Amino acid sequence: MALDVAPLSNQLGFFSLICYCLTLLPTLLRIVFPQTKQTEIPKWLLLQRRLIGILAFLFAVGHGVLLIKKRNIDFSDVTTAWVYIQGICTLLIFTLLAVTSNDWSVKKLKKHWKQLHQLTYLAMFLLTWHVLDKMMGHWTQVTPISLILIGLIDGLFIWRRWIECRGSAKTPAAQSMSAKPTKPN
Ligand code: HEM
Repeated sequence: MALDVAPLSNQLGFFSLICYCLTLLPTLLRIVFPQTKQTEIPKWLLLQRRLIGILAFLFAVGHGVLLIKKRNIDFSDVTTAWVYIQGICTLLIFTLLAVTSNDWSVKKLKKHWKQLHQLTYLAMFLLTWHVLDKMMGHWTQVTPISLILIGLIDGLFIWRRWIECRGSAKTPAAQSMSAKPTKPN
């Protein structure tokens, strides 16, 4: 199958996806492969996470704007808006994350900041759906790379959740519930 050359609009979507994956990678690697904690790349990614996240947002805006213009998309029509629902929701999440990626928001939102930033994991699945749905039947040269990257991130996330569930099942409370009853004196 010959792949199309990706136009600028698609390249911007692709750069956004790469930056977004890089923001998720350090935490996922730390939990799934704890031995990577001391290595330089995850440490550097963790330090630059805010900047990389903002770049992901800016690339996504460029991507969205170019495609809206190119396709004359009219969001006041509900049927049209529905066609782009995954892209719109992902962009909304990216916007919320970008505007709250600063010390002031961390202080103001307190524990809600962490809850809000959990939305990043919803964006991960929306983005997978977005690329699969929008590129079905007309892949460009960047589509397979996007799908491999986001697929790896989805896989690491599921692995992480599995490790965390296994860990919480082994908490002292759970252990005492599952412990064999001791002989009465
Ligand atoms: C965070 C937001 C978004 C990201 C990260 C993103 C990313 C991507 C990526 C990686 C592709 C595949 C490019 C390729 O394989 O060549 C794509 C395709 C596409 N996206 Fe987005 N997107 C986002 C938001 C949006 C929004 C808001 C729209 C609304 C107009 C949109 C419309 C499209 C369309 C129409 C395609 C298919 C392009 C084609 O057929 O060549 N995306 N997007």
